[in-house]
Amino acid sequence: MSAKKVRKAVFPAAGFGTRFLPATKAMPKEMMPVVDKPLIQYAVEEAAEAGIEQMIIITGRNKRAIEDHFDRVPELEQELLAKGKHDLYEALHSATPNNVNFIFIRQPEQLGLGHAVLCALPVVGDEPFAVILADDLIDAQPGVTRQLVQAYEKHGASVLAVQDVPLAETSRYGIVAAAPLDGATERVTGMVEKPRPSEAPSTLAVVGRYVLRPEIFDELARTERGSGGEIQLTDAIARRIRHGEVLAHRFSGTRFDCGNKEGFLTANIAFARKQGLLPARRAGDPEDVSFPG
Ligand code: UTP
Repeated sequence: MSAKKVRKAVFPAAGFGTRFLPATKAMPKEMMPVVDKPLIQYAVEEAAEAGIEQMIIITGRNKRAIEDHFDRVPELEQELLAKGKHDLYEALHSATPNNVNFIFIRQPEQLGLGHAVLCALPVVGDEPFAVILADDLIDAQPGVTRQLVQAYEKHGASVLAVQDVPLAETSRYGIVAAAPLDGATERVTGMVEKPRPSEAPSTLAVVGRYVLRPEIFDELARTERGSGGEIQLTDAIARRIRHGEVLAHRFSGTRFDCGNKEGFLTANIAFARKQGLLPARRAGDPEDVSFPG
């Protein structure tokens, strides 16, 4: 099935980030660094690797730091070059990958993730697009967005990134029921938002990566405020299931939920280890978090 190329990605970054107060009082959560790079930059790099050219960032209050981050700073570039600090020059430059452009859209009121995605309609138009939640940091090769784009190109249907979670945690996620289709890609037959473990149709949880067909905008425009008084993206996706056009892809990679403190700290340790800043994990160390003694 031939599908339109996925050229655009939407990065909802207008939430309050209350779980990180006071750090997020004057700074968006997406600007918090894992080692030395803000979460939003990992997300943009993942999109660029998937061939996406247009980065559409949905911002709210305190938007300036994100806009500034993806702007160039010619004076600083000159200064670093003049002093022969080429590695720092490269680090500075890495924030703005070649061949991509940035568009910033303000979400006037925090009405939920679904509403944040709907704010991108005037720029996305009638095209498939990726949605990337920067606070779900996923270490994967190839990147998860690329994995989803490949599944989209093969099947022409919206694709949600999913992973198995412990039964006790189903109430933190959208949980899907799915039927086998093509290896790691399954057809979604049902979806429940934050079910209690006893009511969950499976333990397959939707995480912060999606490739969506543009029909989702019509559904979002019709979506009433749901759980928490917010317009939920999952409610709109759930209504596309009956059209047989929603797939779930069991991505390969390691996910860090940087929307909470434990996940954020774990990501910092894992990435610091990858860069050789901390000793590698030793046999017998606890699974994720272990500091050198
Ligand atoms: P979260 O549910 O993590 O909410 O939003 P939050 O505000 O970021 O964080 P907490 O729960 O208060 O700590 C999921 C994603 O949706 C975006 C957020 O920026 C985050 O990327 N979002 C949420 C919006 O862009 N607009 C909204 O109105 C709500």
